[in-house]
Amino acid sequence: MADIPLQSKVALTGGADFWHSQAVPEADLPQVMLTDGPHGVRKQSGATDHVGLNESVPATCFPPAVGLSSTWSRETLRKVGEALGEESKALGVGVLLGPGVNIKRSPLCGRNFEYFSEDPYVAGELATAYVEGVQSKGVGTSLKHYAANNQETDRMRRDSQVDERTLRELYLNAFHKVVTRAQPWTVMCSYNKVNGTFVSEDRFLLTQVLRDEWGFEGVVVSDWGAIHDRVAALRAGLDLEMPANPAHEAGVMAALESGGLDESVIDRAYGNVERVLRRAAATVADADGVFDVEGHHALARRAAEQCIVLLANDGVLPLASDTTVAVVGEFARTPRYQGAGSSRVQPTQLDNALDRIEAIVGHDVPFAPGFTTDPKNPVGDAAHDEAVEVAARADVVLVFLGLGENHESEGYDRTTADLPPEQLALLDDILAVNGNVVVVLSNGSSVLVPFRDRVRAVVEGWLLGQAGGPALADVLYGLVNPSGKLTETIPLRLEDVPSHLNFPGDETGVRYGEGLFVGYRGYDASAREVAYPFGYGLSYTSFDYSDLTVTADGNALTVVFTVTNSGPRAGREVAQAYVSIDRSRVVRVPRELKGFADVTLEPGASQQVTIEIPLWELAYWSVIDHQWVVESGTYTVAVGGSSRDLPLSGTVDVTGNEPARPLTLFSTLGEAMAVPAFASVMAGLAESFGGMPMDDPDMVRMVMDIPLATVAGFSGQSEAELQLLLDQVNRQAKV
Ligand code: GLC
Repeated sequence: MADIPLQSKVALTGGADFWHSQAVPEADLPQVMLTDGPHGVRKQSGATDHVGLNESVPATCFPPAVGLSSTWSRETLRKVGEALGEESKALGVGVLLGPGVNIKRSPLCGRNFEYFSEDPYVAGELATAYVEGVQSKGVGTSLKHYAANNQETDRMRRDSQVDERTLRELYLNAFHKVVTRAQPWTVMCSYNKVNGTFVSEDRFLLTQVLRDEWGFEGVVVSDWGAIHDRVAALRAGLDLEMPANPAHEAGVMAALESGGLDESVIDRAYGNVERVLRRAAATVADADGVFDVEGHHALARRAAEQCIVLLANDGVLPLASDTTVAVVGEFARTPRYQGAGSSRVQPTQLDNALDRIEAIVGHDVPFAPGFTTDPKNPVGDAAHDEAVEVAARADVVLVFLGLGENHESEGYDRTTADLPPEQLALLDDILAVNGNVVVVLSNGSSVLVPFRDRVRAVVEGWLLGQAGGPALADVLYGLVNPSGKLTETIPLRLEDVPSHLNFPGDETGVRYGEGLFVGYRGYDASAREVAYPFGYGLSYTSFDYSDLTVTADGNALTVVFTVTNSGPRAGREVAQAYVSIDRSRVVRVPRELKGFADVTLEPGASQQVTIEIPLWELAYWSVIDHQWVVESGTYTVAVGGSSRDLPLSGTVDVTGNEPARPLTLFSTLGEAMAVPAFASVMAGLAESFGGMPMDDPDMVRMVMDIPLATVAGFSGQSEAELQLLLDQVNRQAKV
């Protein structure tokens, strides 16, 4: 590094243009392309932008995270990651900008389609598989957006105000898992502030947590345009500002010359960027633009099939091919298959549901768009009336509804959780003439489903990528047995969402007032009814759970149970394990997902499933000790097919790792009495209560929460005398 000119080292801490890092000729390091991601390669060959306005070269558009997460399949995420790595390599992309693991704090977040879940465990598990897949091909990833970037409103300035424990357990947790398990080559720091500091200038997040605690070895790259002061950002731990910003580069040189910035900071950043991008450069050196287009399209279809969540079905599904159907809704012909913004991919091909339905039944079927998905091209009542007429003549009407690209997007949030009113009105009029309605949804985040009891089936198709249309058709006709499960709750009302009163905040910031109680954690804690709970999804078969055992050793809980396919056809089941603790010394949510496994079973077949839950997964973040703490106690492990369908449960005692805390004058009597060495002091204090029998549990319970200083006061003992006794106890207890 010594023989690299300072100017060249500084240059490498910023981009060469919108999508490339700087070349360093003295180090024989070429430019490297970093581009989006996450669910397909968005390589722009002409005009560039970071919100998907300009075209990009064709690449496979896989289901976005909202769909892929609903597979609950680590194997599928890894395979999609591998394919993305292959396409990135072929197209000369050294770092693919994804996955996004921000928690879905509200269904209104415009970018939820790009994120995995309201739950950090499933997000972290699946994102880990994705990163391992992509990087197995020698292409880097960018874990984003670090951190607490959970809305699009004012995203480049807004201050996310999150308490310490909530930040650790919910908003950093998935990042923690992916960094420690998969070492993404880069982590992308977000635009927003966290607790008053821009993340790009936050040494606590970029260095203390990410590197010192988690051991991150890669490059901290900025979100595009997130840097306001590259000197401050470099000091905090940033390594690479994107895109290019010559003024900031000059500012760094000036700070170095004035002594305002130490060259060691540049050496650190240069070293990280050079090491990572050299690996990427080697991978793409022989990029030939060739990848397995057909094979990846087939993978996109298989993945899409697993994404689909069957929410309701009175038996009308699967359809028989000779059922007289009508298809209503533009989404059947013009699929909404990905989100708007920087992740928009130019697909290698695009299939729709309508064509596949006609291929399955062997003839054309009546179709009416009913509404437009292009706000610039409104359709009048004629389209509405036509659709109602078409619906009236069919045995079963397949109504494709959803959110258009103008309803949810990177860059802005939704203001309503409802489907567009013109679609709801159309559904009402169709129901007035035909009660045999199946609703098929295409949306990037939960929508309210007030019609769910008025229709015969509801299929949640999320956004399914370029091959999602046929996957939907195959589910409707039973060629595929749906197996997707919700990774975000579908509420009954927007007002029920735990974050509702604090989303999206205002010019003073956004207060994460609901704390830990996000998603099912909140709905369960308030025992609130929901339309469809986290982890839920139906099948065309059924599954039974039996024979649960839960054991613990010093490292993990081992959860063993049997799943049986008790229904008429083969199917895949995602079994989930939720953990809770009885009587905790800290506030707890009712239960948390801490394990899942999917099994595919023929009718009548059974399979024993084992889920290992490392003890550290049970830990809470102590804001007293500022560390993860596994609390000793009795834990309950509940197992089943959704967060609100847990037919099996078992308990197990766990010895935790609570750090011993020295007794102080403000330790309570209860805390002190838990320390054996305190017993000797206790006798003397009994006098404080007029000789109260301290072995009387009812009496003691009344005084357990009194601080020792107050107890000493009652007995006329000075705090200094008591402190001496406590010092003695602490020494004896070696704390
Ligand atoms: C965008 C997004 C980020 C993307 C980057 C480059 O603003 O926030 O996810 O990777 O810029 O397009």
